Amino acid sequence: MGRVAELAEVSVRTLHHYDDIGLVRPSARTPAGYRAYSAGDVERLREVLAYRRLGFGLREVAELVGDPPTDAVARLRRLRGLLLERRERADAMVAAIDREIAARARGLKVTPEEQLGMLGARLYDAIGGAYPATRRTDPRIAAQIWAALGDARTVLNVGAGTGSYEPSDREVTAVEPSAVMRGQRPAGAAPCVAAAAENLPFEDRSFDVAMAVSTVHHWGDPAAGLREMRRVARRVVVLTFDTDEPGWQDRFWLTRDYLPEFADVLGEFPSLAAMADAIGARTEPVPVPWDCADGLFEAYWRRPGAYLEDHVRRAMSVWTRVGPEAEQRAVRSLGDDLDSGRWAERNGGLAALDAADLGLRLLVA
Ligand SMILES: C[S@@+](CC[C@H](N)C(=O)[O-])C[C@H]1O[C@@H](n2cnc3c(N)ncnc32)[C@H](O)[C@@H]1O
Repeated sequence: MGRVAELAEVSVRTLHHYDDIGLVRPSARTPAGYRAYSAGDVERLREVLAYRRLGFGLREVAELVGDPPTDAVARLRRLRGLLLERRERADAMVAAIDREIAARARGLKVTPEEQLGMLGARLYDAIGGAYPATRRTDPRIAAQIWAALGDARTVLNVGAGTGSYEPSDREVTAVEPSAVMRGQRPAGAAPCVAAAAENLPFEDRSFDVAMAVSTVHHWGDPAAGLREMRRVARRVVVLTFDTDEPGWQDRFWLTRDYLPEFADVLGEFPSLAAMADAIGARTEPVPVPWDCADGLFEAYWRRPGAYLEDHVRRAMSVWTRVGPEAEQRAVRSLGDDLDSGRWAERNGGLAALDAADLGLRLLVA
């Protein structure tokens, strides 16, 4: 055993431990009762050590090397999957660090959520439980999205969440990386794959159309996600937000007068033109109806009191992204202005509108 330990550059204690937990069991004993490693045992040890050096935990390694030994190609596939997951996590961390560096360079405060990398799926694992309270399909927005799907029969819904906007008259496959969101899909909803937009586990051109609704701004790498949608589907439909138009921050009174921090949240977001270019899309505005059934950030533009309700805000990721200080200040200030009549004075004209263009855009490619 000492010789094997020396050759493998591990301690005898490590080998004992591997033996005790059944990871690498020497199959023989010397006449003096010492453990003896066969050629097969040494091969297994070499494999175990390789995985350990890649940073896998003992339990993962035990699964990878298999007991009884599993098909070598299947094990390699699993290892490959684990490495890709790690690479994805590392990429997302690099992107989060880049965003923080850029935000700090612009003198902006980074919220604790952002520092913890609580973005994308991790953000939704943390806040997604509050989503179903107010988030659902709005029929008018749905009609516009479904018209853009054209005659597509097979549909991939990326960043699908709880399944809003999934058409019931077509064959839908959903992709959603947050386990909390997947767990809230209603019984009978389309099958849902645990994956992220940046790395879609489908062959080229597997679907007639790929759609993504209110999700691109959460992706670690939006350009990569859009490229993936383009790769796996013949057509692409994306509901997103326009930050190209000068003064876009002033389109919505909530951002303009109470939550200027929203601009920082979207500061690093790719331009609408760049996203449209990436997939070769045309762009159409998506007006938000005054009584929008989907409680998205802009939904209550004519019902300002709704933003004072905690359960309404909890279903909008913006509030978590700006952090509690900005949220409390905005809510206090809006409440004061509603009480004093100042909000009505400034926004009186809205009462006459049935729908408003607040920057939502449909990209259709
Ligand atoms: C605002 S929800 C929208 C859900 C749904 N499309 C809808 O319209 O109700 C955003 C969703 O994007 C998901 N998401 C976050 N990062 C993602 C990524 N990299 N790839 C795909 N989806 C992602 C979140 O987990 C969350 O479910």
